[in-house]
Amino acid sequence: MSIIVFGSLNMDLVAQVPCLPQPGETLLGTDFITVPGGKGANQAVAAARLGASTTMVGRVGDDGFGSLLCHSLTASGVVTDAVLTSPGPSGVALINVDELGENQIVVVPGANGKVDITDVDRLPLPDGSDGKTSILLMQFEIALTVVQAAAKRAKDHCVIVDPAPVQPHLPADFYGLVDILTPNQTEASQLSGVKVSSVATAMEAAQVLRQRGASTVIVKLGRQGAVVASQSEVFHRPAFQVDAVDTVAAGDAFNGGLAVALAEEKSLRDAVEWASAVAALSVMKAGAQPSMPTRTQVEHFLLS
Ligand code: RIB
Repeated sequence: MSIIVFGSLNMDLVAQVPCLPQPGETLLGTDFITVPGGKGANQAVAAARLGASTTMVGRVGDDGFGSLLCHSLTASGVVTDAVLTSPGPSGVALINVDELGENQIVVVPGANGKVDITDVDRLPLPDGSDGKTSILLMQFEIALTVVQAAAKRAKDHCVIVDPAPVQPHLPADFYGLVDILTPNQTEASQLSGVKVSSVATAMEAAQVLRQRGASTVIVKLGRQGAVVASQSEVFHRPAFQVDAVDTVAAGDAFNGGLAVALAEEKSLRDAVEWASAVAALSVMKAGAQPSMPTRTQVEHFLLS
């Protein structure tokens, strides 16, 4: 089963700071790196490094960042034939990471904002006549209308949506197009109206989102693990305890890992454990795409 990622590619401009700045405050940073990121591209790199056949569909700009972003994908084994170059700048993300590994992100969409309905037609979804379906991974760094159209087109496939950055008022019929919705704590709170502050409240929020139509909801709680609610089970999967240096893209690592595990027909419980391991390894390394682990690293981690 192949994995298709439809979404954003950003160049991440990352400052290491002693603490996250308050409004109006000027801080001295301690380090600066430029690394390939973007929620879509990060998920694609995560899946490809784990050995899955992965195709990225999206857009970069005709600036210097565009070719670097495509190169980062191909270097990890992602197929980039369906990444178009549009006139203008590529997407960028301005990121601060503090000493605890927590982050603050501002995304300027650039070419990601040019992804439109015509790109939906370019998704290489098999028609299913050979019995094979794909997993389609999406996020909200491209237009919601486009994500919705892609989810409709992929109705015979497994549609996984990471609702980040959150759009609080999703159309009522959106949820029914989603097989697996993977909000983090903030996104689950804003979407469901339930203030998520614990495993119990995450379960409550997940049930609200399921009632709206999402088949399965996985609330990613960072250090507190993940809460999963499907038609047949509700459970909490604790996080692996590791020393985090940078949590940027941990959620993307989780989604990439989840997709690969489900493509390999692991059970939902095993897939969530596998995804949690991928996310844990990703926070132990700096940068979005550079932090995505290989399959061997995940297998060793799970055995240790
Ligand atoms: O999820 C992390 C990503 O969010 C970063 O790589 C940044 O580009 C933003 O899209």
